Amino acid sequence: MKIRAVYPGTFDPVTNGHLDLVKRSAALFDKVIVAILKNSDKVPLFTLEERVEMLKEAVKGIENVTVATFGGLLVDYALRIRASVIVRGIRAVSDYEYELQMALMNRRLSSKVETVFMMPAEAYTYLSSRMVREVSALGGAVQGLVPAGVERRLKKKLSQSLKV
Ligand code: PNS
Repeated sequence: MKIRAVYPGTFDPVTNGHLDLVKRSAALFDKVIVAILKNSDKVPLFTLEERVEMLKEAVKGIENVTVATFGGLLVDYALRIRASVIVRGIRAVSDYEYELQMALMNRRLSSKVETVFMMPAEAYTYLSSRMVREVSALGGAVQGLVPAGVERRLKKKLSQSLKV
């Protein structure tokens, strides 16, 4: 049986930690769909289109990985695309509580979709999109923490904000 997994998130922006998980998932599952939530409560730094573009660039060359967007309930989306697994990353104990709540709610909504938690490489355990945005907005270096295309776009956003 071929197993399709969905790796959902906001990806504002995608980091090397996310990418690490994409690669680990791609080695485990037959197909991985990285899915960006369309209408989140959060006000993103990057538009949905920019986030799709950055993710597509980042996963280029990983054969069994595609990038998509979704709205509504994650489990409904997973069922629609015939994914039986939801991949989520856990970096530290602090992630666990929220992730457990979400996984159990998703299980309640559909017993046909199983959440699988994965750990990124130790080097990325402190890394988050929020920190990347903050460091970059204040002029700090994010080289090695995000794909090159993301670094370039972050610099562009910073220079645009300095012009205002
Ligand atoms: O990268 P994030 O912000 O931690 O991702 C959160 C995401 C997109 C996985 C989560 O907010 C989500 O699945 N939203 C869709 C709405 C939904 O299904 N909610 C019920 C499960 S809690």
